[in-house]
Amino acid sequence: MSWAALLGLLAALLLLLLLLSRRRARRPGEPPLDLGSIPWLGHALEFGRDAASFLTRMKEKHGDIFTVLVGGRYVTVLLDPHSYDTVMWEPRTKLDFQAYAVILMERIFKVQLPDYDPSDEKAKMKLTLQHRDLQALTDAMYTNLCTVLLGEPAEAAGDWRKAGLLEFSYSALLRAGFLTLYGVEASPGTPESQAEDRSHSADVFHTFRQLDLLLPKLARGSVSAGDKDHVCAVRGRLWKLLSPARLASRALRSSWLESYLLHLEEMGVSPEMQARVLVQQLWATQGNMGPAAFWLLLYLLKNPEALAAVRGELEHIPPHAEQPASQMHTLPQKALDNTPVLDSVLSECLRLTAAPFITREVVADMALPLADGREFSLRRGDRLLLFPFLSPQRDPEIYTDPEVFKYNRFLSPDGSEKKDFYKGGKRLKNYTMPWGAGHNQCLGKAYAIYSIKQFVFLVLTHFDLELVSVDEEIPNFDLSRYGFGLMQPERDVPVQYRVRL
Ligand code: HEM
Repeated sequence: MSWAALLGLLAALLLLLLLLSRRRARRPGEPPLDLGSIPWLGHALEFGRDAASFLTRMKEKHGDIFTVLVGGRYVTVLLDPHSYDTVMWEPRTKLDFQAYAVILMERIFKVQLPDYDPSDEKAKMKLTLQHRDLQALTDAMYTNLCTVLLGEPAEAAGDWRKAGLLEFSYSALLRAGFLTLYGVEASPGTPESQAEDRSHSADVFHTFRQLDLLLPKLARGSVSAGDKDHVCAVRGRLWKLLSPARLASRALRSSWLESYLLHLEEMGVSPEMQARVLVQQLWATQGNMGPAAFWLLLYLLKNPEALAAVRGELEHIPPHAEQPASQMHTLPQKALDNTPVLDSVLSECLRLTAAPFITREVVADMALPLADGREFSLRRGDRLLLFPFLSPQRDPEIYTDPEVFKYNRFLSPDGSEKKDFYKGGKRLKNYTMPWGAGHNQCLGKAYAIYSIKQFVFLVLTHFDLELVSVDEEIPNFDLSRYGFGLMQPERDVPVQYRVRL
């Protein structure tokens, strides 16, 4: 080893020692500080293993605001839902909501966009996902769900088939969602083009799913050496499947895709980088719907009373139609908007299973006022974290038996949506937050809700679906997925199904 290399190594060791021995002390006005017992790493291992249990333990010890050391970063955790709005609408000059997302985009999807302006991008997406084109998206989704769910020859013959419920739900929603946003083989569709749509979208789903399973490890930078080649291969395959050249010939591409590609072109993004961004968007738009539909069907299968109530409601769709639903090209919007029981079931499932982190980088030293009048100092360079999964969603002060699925929890006695929930005697604005809020509000919420309802409608009206074992328990969560949106189960649940002829 040369002298220069040796000196470099010594300097690095010295720096490491300095870092490890530097213990931060709590200053007056700051939240309680918990450094854990391992220098620098702090609570990183426990946090990574099961963030919800760790944060519950810290909440019991310190209350609803505290700072913890996690892998060299100081993270202030706020768990008072009355105070969330202050954080979520704070401008980027104080609390930056983009910095961490950019790091994740790079780590997971290898996306780098030099002049990336999230506000510009979001304004464009709002038009194509929420307002102007929502109806067209919803109609296309129904057609594509029918193609994916009802088109297979085995399905058409009414044979019983076995599958995992997560695989069944995730596959159907992601494949139909992909065809809706990224386009289909031909328009008008033929039996051959629809068969191609089924096989191509299945390829996209299976490849995507391999990346999805490794997502928590990719985000934490803890992919094992053995998995690295696999990740590269899967990512490479997805980039090919979603390359702009490959998508160019697709029919009925959504205005979301058209407008987004134009936006990337205007930014001067290369075709290779565009493909990476489109894979990232596949995850942002499709990563949550399938798992949400899985939990919803599972809770219905485990709760006959809830299932009967939802079935009763769906019987009235389409109202007064002479046409059987299988031959309909769309579901009437009015009918989709008028399902308070299914809405309550969906809200309850999302309350129990949606666990995104809402994070901000503290850009300047600042005071954080809480709703109860207390005020805490935050230090520049720290990270702020809200975790609505613990409160409001699983907070026993807000929900009785918060761990239990109650299908009518979000229904008022008169059958309308229940919106009044309280903590500390004060009514909550944010009583469940699966869709984020403030700058983090989901742009696809309306489309996602319509899509999940259409899926549930098709499954309950066209399929016999049952658990392989009636004793099947609701599986535990895959604990590594806290922070990434909808939780997934640690194992799939075997079901059998057939199309009702
Ligand atoms: C059950 C389904 C879904 C859930 C629970 C969900 C939840 C969320 C949440 C919590 C966020 C905020 C993320 C953050 O800023 O950290 C978000 C952002 C977003 N969602 Fe959804 N989402 C769902 C489905 C969809 C669908 C179907 C689409 C579009 C077709 C969509 C499009 C987006 C977009 C574009 C963003 C913004 C991403 C960004 O800020 O870069 N979502 N979603």
